Amino acid sequence: MNLSLEKIINHKLAACFEKLGLDKKYATVKVSDRPDLSDFQCNGALALAKSEHKNPREIAASVMTELEKDNDFAKISVDGPGFINLTIRNELIARVMDDMSADERLGCEKTDNPHTVVLDFGAPNVAKEMHVGHLRSAVIGESVQRIERFAGNKVISDTHLGDWGTPMGMIISEIMDMHPDWPYFDDNKKDGFPERLPYSVEELTEIYKKANAHCKEDENARQKARVITAKFQDGHPGYRALWKHLRNISVEAVKKNFDALDVHFDLWLGESDAHETCYEILKLAKDKGISEADDGAVIIRLDEVNKPKPPVILQKSDGGFTYHTTDIATVKMRVDDLKADEIIYFTDKRQALHFEQVFEAVEKLGLAPGVKLRHIGFGTVNGPDGKPFKTRDGGVMKLEDLIKLSKDKVRESMPSPEEAEGFSSPAEAEKYIENLVEEIAVAAMKFQDLKNNIASGYAFEIDDFAKFEGKTGPYIQYAVARINSIMRKAAAAGIESGKVTLNNKEERELALKLAQMNNVVMRAHEDKEPSIISDYAYTLAQTFSSFYNASSIMNAETKELASSRLRLAKLTRDALTLLLYLLGIKAPEVMLKKA
Ligand code: ARG
Repeated sequence: MNLSLEKIINHKLAACFEKLGLDKKYATVKVSDRPDLSDFQCNGALALAKSEHKNPREIAASVMTELEKDNDFAKISVDGPGFINLTIRNELIARVMDDMSADERLGCEKTDNPHTVVLDFGAPNVAKEMHVGHLRSAVIGESVQRIERFAGNKVISDTHLGDWGTPMGMIISEIMDMHPDWPYFDDNKKDGFPERLPYSVEELTEIYKKANAHCKEDENARQKARVITAKFQDGHPGYRALWKHLRNISVEAVKKNFDALDVHFDLWLGESDAHETCYEILKLAKDKGISEADDGAVIIRLDEVNKPKPPVILQKSDGGFTYHTTDIATVKMRVDDLKADEIIYFTDKRQALHFEQVFEAVEKLGLAPGVKLRHIGFGTVNGPDGKPFKTRDGGVMKLEDLIKLSKDKVRESMPSPEEAEGFSSPAEAEKYIENLVEEIAVAAMKFQDLKNNIASGYAFEIDDFAKFEGKTGPYIQYAVARINSIMRKAAAAGIESGKVTLNNKEERELALKLAQMNNVVMRAHEDKEPSIISDYAYTLAQTFSSFYNASSIMNAETKELASSRLRLAKLTRDALTLLLYLLGIKAPEVMLKKA
């Protein structure tokens, strides 16, 4: 059973092209640019004419004559230089609606090439608080993770914590200055270190800031941090014990943040997990003769002619490994242990060069033959002034503060527990409202991010992102809740959903919009671009609104009409719920709004 209207038309067109001896490659349609003229258009005659030096209008006319034998087309015309415009008969569109309703995937196909995809996103750093950049990575990554799973791929998500390297040495050094008597700094002590470290993540962040400032102004402090880093990476028991505490404290805080955002990972590995493999990489590079000594460091030179880039530093002169090395080693682990066929990284665009270097080194080392490596770089989140988003006092906006800000905004639109209708007590209402505020706040934040192309930056619309009108997450949640309420009323009136028939313009428009579902989801999957889904969800919600204004269910002229409209409404509800899910957003059953 084929549930995609576009594909059904493509098949018909392909059969027609074949019959006429035309190359089938050109037999594809797209949703019409001129919905007033047609439902779909085929531009294939133009391309075909070019490659075969024929007249495009003549080709189009022969296609039209052939297609006219098919009853599923209500109107076919050749327009302009040779566009074939197709209007579909309502019966076929209605049948697709019935089939979609009966299908639990709402007509969405799976990929024909299922494979294992490792997604690397979130990626916060130990002892540094998460900021809006990590928000983007987490929000986009979570959505792509859901889209890929839904498309039928095996997904393994890993947050790849920044838990290794010099910042760790810096912070250990700072703590050493503060508490030289703590047992961690005794070079001879091998075990028996305290169970816990008395720091909160906020305190750690403060310590890190101080460490950073010291290292900036003082070469001795830098040197000390470097030595500690090398020793701690090498396995110094006290430093390692201290590091473990730092990591645990951070991970706990990070998990809380990600949970609040409904962002989830299969693996909580980090740069540290690649450490042993870094030695293997070093050896492999030497054995293959692609590394060289450079001023005490070990480097791999990369393309210096076509797309020149600086070399990868595998090992620094002090013996420490780098961000390059851990990433190269991590590729090896993901290929060998996780059997990745594809690895995708989501970070700020500014890391593009880093990943180009890593991927080229991986290729030279032959670590991932046939594996697709891809970095998807996103733009920055800006404030109203077009500069990176800051707090009111000019500091970096922390993720936690952003979640709070979003919740406060949403709360402004909520009724008080006393005003809320449909609850047995204000206490019950309050509980519902609190949970609702969370779900809407997350929807507002995520949607505001995912409505933009990944590559472009966006301005945080502080006044509008949490509104219930306009292109926002709450607007779409509201649309779902509205249909839920319509369905409850219809059920109470004894109306059942039934066979779809299309009788007015708005019903037809809604059905044609719903029929795009499969294509939209597949495109979002192929392009790894959630904004394709958010755009569609928004227009679908709008189209539903026009439909419902024109087509009452409760007051429909006949029982059959009421049933047909109810089926379209339910299908829209299910489609929007699925689309929101793919964006990482929940669809509450009931929404509340201040009167
Ligand atoms: N921790 C890094 C940061 O905050 C991002 C890591 C991205 N992933 C990776 N495999 N390099 O900038």
